[in-house]
Amino acid sequence: MKAWLCNALGQGPDGLVLSDIEAPLPGPGEVAIRVGACGINFADGLLLEGRYQAQPTVPFVPGLEVAGTVVALGTGVTSFRVGDRVIAMTGQGGYGEIALAPASRTVALPDEIGWVEGAAFPIAYGTSHLGLAHRARLQPGETLLVLGASGGVGLTAVELGKLMGARVIAVANGAAKCAVAAGAGADETIDSSAEDLVERLRALVGPAGVDVIYDPVGGALFDAGLKVAAFEARVLLIGFASGDVPRIAANRLLVKNVDVIGFYWGAYGERRPEVMADSFRTLIGWWQEGRLRPHISDVVPLERAPEGLKQVLERRSTGKVVIEMGR
Ligand SMILES: NC(=O)c1ccc[n+]([C@@H]2O[C@H](COP(=O)([O-])OP(=O)(O)OC[C@H]3O[C@@H](n4cnc5c(N)ncnc54)[C@H](OP(=O)(O)O)[C@@H]3O)[C@@H](O)[C@H]2O)c1
Repeated sequence: MKAWLCNALGQGPDGLVLSDIEAPLPGPGEVAIRVGACGINFADGLLLEGRYQAQPTVPFVPGLEVAGTVVALGTGVTSFRVGDRVIAMTGQGGYGEIALAPASRTVALPDEIGWVEGAAFPIAYGTSHLGLAHRARLQPGETLLVLGASGGVGLTAVELGKLMGARVIAVANGAAKCAVAAGAGADETIDSSAEDLVERLRALVGPAGVDVIYDPVGGALFDAGLKVAAFEARVLLIGFASGDVPRIAANRLLVKNVDVIGFYWGAYGERRPEVMADSFRTLIGWWQEGRLRPHISDVVPLERAPEGLKQVLERRSTGKVVIEMGR
């Protein structure tokens, strides 16, 4: 089968090599999936650099999430059959024609949802839903500040925040990205390239402040957000796309009774699979009711997968970029 191989860490998307390799066989508890589409993630770039929390051994095929058809079952798998349409958290392998996933991290994909939308779904929506609902306990009527709001996870936080009844303030870089965040339902947008963030936030929320801060970016945006945190605010740490991991002066948390909440969605697949499964049931229900609309800024064929990853890493995408097989 065809797959993009990373043979050495530290070489970025340009180091990937399109190769002909043996299709992988499912081990116990795994399913093999003929990939219809694969979602590209910022974390793919971190994995290629060896800077992600999970360290791959080389050579490996990147690709964390796929939609496709089950083509083989490992021993002990009873929840799926060959031919089932699924979405799955593969961990790796999605930049190839066949990928493996634990059956426990595979979910049935409703017939009416295509591969591209399916592959754009698991990580972005799963992260934002579990993060906002389970960890940050976002309540209707609260104010939610979303940083990096036009990105993969950020945009779903905007959409889900509105769906959960919050007032959503979205921060993005440039008018076009702000327009995308507004399209996902943001009540207010702030262009971080043109406006003083703290000043604008203070004008919008006044002394009441912001109840929940969703932060996939870190750095200066995190600092600005903390300045407008409400009494008993919750700050949800999603990621550090800016490359700058914030250092927090603990006295700032103490005086306003602020919770800073670490959140790694992938850990739930292993440690609390029932919590992840519950969240997926809710999300797929909302999706089938037409209440979620995945935003995909570009779809690339397998041959152009590294280009798609560069779009994400160089801040040229909004929402998701997806690899579609046979395109
Ligand atoms: N905790 C979890 O379980 C979890 C799950 C999924 C993702 N993540 C993390 O969340 C972060 C975002 O992931 P994603 O897939 O949504 O990525 P993405 O689509 O590239 O979004 C990242 C956003 O961050 C903003 N950004 C600000 N400064 C940046 C910089 N110097 N370089 C790149 N982007 C910058 C960009 O928005 P502007 O251009 O508008 O500033 C961009 O839209 C990553 O750190 C990822 O590892 C964590």
